[in-house]
Amino acid sequence: MRYANAGTILVVDDEPQNVEVLRRLMTRLGYAVQTAGDGESALQSVARNPPDLVLLDVNMSGIDGVEVCRRLKADPSTRLIPVVLITTLKASADRVRGIDAGADDFLAKPPVMAELEARVHSLMRLKRYTDELDSAESVILSLGLTIEARDHYTNGHCQRLAAYGTALGTRLNLADDQLVALNRGAFLHDVGKIGIPDAVLLKPGRLTPAEYALMQQHTVIGDTLCSELRLLEDVRPIVRHHHERPDGTGYPDHLTGEDIPQLARILSVVDVYDALTTARPYKPALAPERAIQELRDEAAKGWKFEVIVEEFAALAAQDNFGLLTRACTVGATGFSRWRSI
Ligand SMILES: [Fe+2]
Repeated sequence: MRYANAGTILVVDDEPQNVEVLRRLMTRLGYAVQTAGDGESALQSVARNPPDLVLLDVNMSGIDGVEVCRRLKADPSTRLIPVVLITTLKASADRVRGIDAGADDFLAKPPVMAELEARVHSLMRLKRYTDELDSAESVILSLGLTIEARDHYTNGHCQRLAAYGTALGTRLNLADDQLVALNRGAFLHDVGKIGIPDAVLLKPGRLTPAEYALMQQHTVIGDTLCSELRLLEDVRPIVRHHHERPDGTGYPDHLTGEDIPQLARILSVVDVYDALTTARPYKPALAPERAIQELRDEAAKGWKFEVIVEEFAALAAQDNFGLLTRACTVGATGFSRWRSI
C-alpha cells in the first residue's frame, strides 16, 4: 500500500465488473473506496459521505455520468469535489457535455492504469489544497465572529448581515461570486476592529474626535489584513468602503457616488438597518418600518443610495418584515440559507 489514509474515492459504474477492477486498484493505492451502480445512488452516496474524488462512468441508464457531474458541480457543498468522467475515446459529444458540466478530467474507457493512477494522485493532491483553503476560510470567518464577540450587544450581527445582504444581492441580480463576496463581507466588514482598543470600541459614552478618528481606522486596518489573502480580493472593497457615503462625507477615502463599490453600498444599507433594529445600552431597537424610514432619510441627505434603500424596503415589505424573525445558517464557503425560527 503506497498511501495510508490517502482519502476516499467514489467509483460509479453500472457494470459491476468495472466497479470491481477500479475498486481493487484504488484500494491497492491506499484509498478508501465507496461504490455506486447508478447515478441516483452515486448522488445519495456523496450526500451521505462526501468523497475526495469521483470516478464516474458516463454511460449509465437513468441519471447518466454527465448529469451526476453537473448536479455535483451546481451544489456549493459538493462543487469542489474533483470529478473524472470515464468515457469511450470517440465520444467527443460526451466530452463537450462533460466540460460544460464542470468535469475536472476525462479518462478513456477502458482506462490505462498508469494514466489513471497519475491523474487520481494529482487530483487528490489538488483536493487537499482545496480543503486547506476551505479551512483557511473558516478561520477567517471565525475571526470575524470573534471580533463581533467583543461587543456583546451586536450578537448575531454578522449572520443577520449575511442573510440580509445575500437576499438583497439576489434581488439585485448579482452574480454568484458577488453573492459569495457579500456573504464573506458580512462576516469580515469590521475585521479591522481587531486593531481598535477596547477602551474605544466598547466606550459607553460619546467618542472624542481623536477616538472617532481612531475608530474610523477599522476600515483601513481590515483592508490591509484582507490584502494578504487573494481569496479575499472581492471582499476588500466591502471592508474598506462600507462607511463611505454618496455625498463624499463618509470614510476612509471620501469616495462619492458611483465610485463607491456596489457591494459596499449594499452592505452599508443592511449594516445600518441591523444597527437600528438592534437594542443597544444607549438606545432601544427601532421597529423595522421606522428603521426603513430612517434609511430613507439618510438617502435624502446623500448618505445612502436611494435605489438600494428602496430595493431593501421592497424586499422587507414583500417579506412582511419577516427579516427580523428569521435566522440563517452559513456554511464556510456557501451561501446564507433562510431558516424560520
Ligand atoms: Fe464598520
